[in-house]
Amino acid sequence: MKIGVFDSGIGGLTVLKALTEVSPNNEYIYFGDTLNLPYGEKRVDELKQLSNKIIEFLISHEVDVIVIACGTLSSTIYDSVKSKYDVKIYDIINPIIKSIQKTNLKKVLLLGTEKTIQAKLFEEKLAKAGVEVYTKACPKFVPIIENKINEPLITAIGEYLYDFKDLDIEVIIPGCTHYGLISEEISEYTKIPCLDIGLLVAEEVNPTYSINDIKIYFSKITPEIKEAVSLIFGDLEIIEKVL
Ligand code: DGL
Repeated sequence: MKIGVFDSGIGGLTVLKALTEVSPNNEYIYFGDTLNLPYGEKRVDELKQLSNKIIEFLISHEVDVIVIACGTLSSTIYDSVKSKYDVKIYDIINPIIKSIQKTNLKKVLLLGTEKTIQAKLFEEKLAKAGVEVYTKACPKFVPIIENKINEPLITAIGEYLYDFKDLDIEVIIPGCTHYGLISEEISEYTKIPCLDIGLLVAEEVNPTYSINDIKIYFSKITPEIKEAVSLIFGDLEIIEKVL
């Protein structure tokens, strides 16, 4: 099976990595829209336009399944694209909600981009699942992770998360896939475990057959992008492609 995965940048690589571990025998194609990052500050009509282009690019590469590995897109445009194409399209919110429904979690903290938190979709689905949910938008995390601003990560973590340290929160949901790359630092500071979103999504998609190949595209490649990819996947060619 050929699986297309996309995000605004390197965040979705956390989902791609989990997919390749859960289901190693597939063909993967990744698109990171680094030219248009961050998505968390874009209007919904812009997000729709960008997503449609990427979905069409992935379909032109004959994918069987697409995974929108982005919390912002899952919160805003997923409903408008999920039935628009002939391929099955997954988001990240539904797999997370499904897995939370199987647990006894009562109190969680949802982190996300401004857009994700404003959209309230994630929050509403969690509340419907009977979970008390605190939310916090963390707009500096993506630019710090993508090396677009030079602020120490720990300062931003303290700024956003200090108020949540003593509220008996059981689990943090990194509702932006980029945050999966800093889960350890978040948990170390808050002493609260973070859900592994990549794994939850990979288990939901869980395709079972095919060949073994990964192709990674970014709309803009920088040395930082190269470094992030090689940290996660080792020596792997990445391709620059403007859509
Ligand atoms: N990884 C994207 C998400 O899950 C980051 C959004 C952005 O580019 O701001 O929301």
